[in-house]
Amino acid sequence: MAFDVRIPEPGELDELFAVNSFSFGMPPSAERVELSLKLADRERLLGAWVDGRCVGSAGAFTFELSVPGASLACGGVTWVGVAPTHRRRGILTALMTTQLAQIRERGEAIAALWASEAPIYGRFGYGLAMQQYEEVRLARVHAQLRGHPGARGRARLVDRAEALATWPAAWEAARAQRAGLHSRTAAWWEVRVLPEQDRPEAGWSPAFLVSLEDGGETIGYVRYRVKRGWRHGLAAGELEVLELVGVDGGAEAALWEYVFGVDLIETVAAHNRPFDEPLFGLLEDPRRLERYPVDALFCRVLDPAAALEGRRYGREGRLVFEVVDDFGGYAGGRFVLEGGPDGARCRPTGETAMLTLPAEELGALYLGQASALALWRAGRVEGSEAAARAAELLFRWHPEPWAPEIW
Ligand SMILES: CC(C)(COP(=O)(O)OP(=O)(O)OC[C@H]1O[C@@H](n2cnc3c(N)ncnc32)[C@H](O)[C@@H]1OP(=O)(O)O)[C@@H](O)C(=O)NCCC(=O)NCCS
Repeated sequence: MAFDVRIPEPGELDELFAVNSFSFGMPPSAERVELSLKLADRERLLGAWVDGRCVGSAGAFTFELSVPGASLACGGVTWVGVAPTHRRRGILTALMTTQLAQIRERGEAIAALWASEAPIYGRFGYGLAMQQYEEVRLARVHAQLRGHPGARGRARLVDRAEALATWPAAWEAARAQRAGLHSRTAAWWEVRVLPEQDRPEAGWSPAFLVSLEDGGETIGYVRYRVKRGWRHGLAAGELEVLELVGVDGGAEAALWEYVFGVDLIETVAAHNRPFDEPLFGLLEDPRRLERYPVDALFCRVLDPAAALEGRRYGREGRLVFEVVDDFGGYAGGRFVLEGGPDGARCRPTGETAMLTLPAEELGALYLGQASALALWRAGRVEGSEAAARAAELLFRWHPEPWAPEIW
């Protein structure tokens, strides 16, 4: 089957998004196309075409991703899908080939994505760089919170315009603290985070927008929905936290206090929360917090020297390693990395490598959460245990990375 991978013409965009909807089992939607195009970089859209018909799609957002101690231009891969009628014939592989070349050409040292299924992207050099909780859930009857000495601020219901004006600064503060958060443009806030047309599922309230303010400054916010319910005269509502962001631990604690103070609620659930979820430490009975882990961001290194110099490291260290990149060769080569909390230098070298790893695992280590020792034990990283330990100490970063929003 002959196919062609190329940037779609303006008149082909509806068809491209219709194919993407088809590949996810969704009906075509003119509204989805319109909103997607508000955020899409059109020259980063790719279609696969067979006999003049679109059968596959891919795209990439242009944003910065927070990485350990810094923020870096990143290809934010999205809209990947191949029509069920044309699967397992190499179309995704062709889309990935062209897309990775585009990302590298733009000078982005890394790419990242959310995978619909974990096994898809390793072959293209993407490694599992972040795990977090897909959901944390707590029966409110067990929500006795310990006081936080830094808890402060007052919660206030705000409208969309106020949230659009004041929340981005809190988001940027969170980005400065953790790896894994992408930069959001004004359009992103308007289209994706605080859309004009809120579409809750049946039974759920529209999103309530609550700011936490201290001395006239917004120090955090929570966006949540409520599903009202009663059982034999007892309130049995659910509260779903869509996004809770505080500029520091005290603000986070105050936001959780607010959430658990909402009456007529039986259960509170929150999605996409970090492994070091602060709520855990705030609870008198943390075992009661149900936690459901999931793999989140996958990361791909395309320019090892720039990517590795672009982040910070847990402690001072030096590592010589060899990367094997079987898909495009972008990350391949032998490198010496000298890094620490204040910066790093990484360059090609002829020295003997202490560790050898595939591009996929370099991507996995990149955001500072994956364990080099665990990958070594699993046979994914080769070399001595001492070298794996050195890589572990160098690459690990705290706090845990966090990706609050699926894109
Ligand atoms: C995932 C998807 C894009 C794959 O497209 P495709 O054109 O069939 O992929 P390819 O033919 O290029 O497959 C390349 C390789 O990946 C493997 N692969 C593809 N999809 C896979 C999956 N879901 N799970 C495991 N392996 C998969 C293929 O078996 C093939 O392996 P091989 O090289 O050893 O033969 C397509 O199945 C799809 O659209 N799925 C639904 C939407 C979706 O999940 N999109 C991804 C969003 S992140």
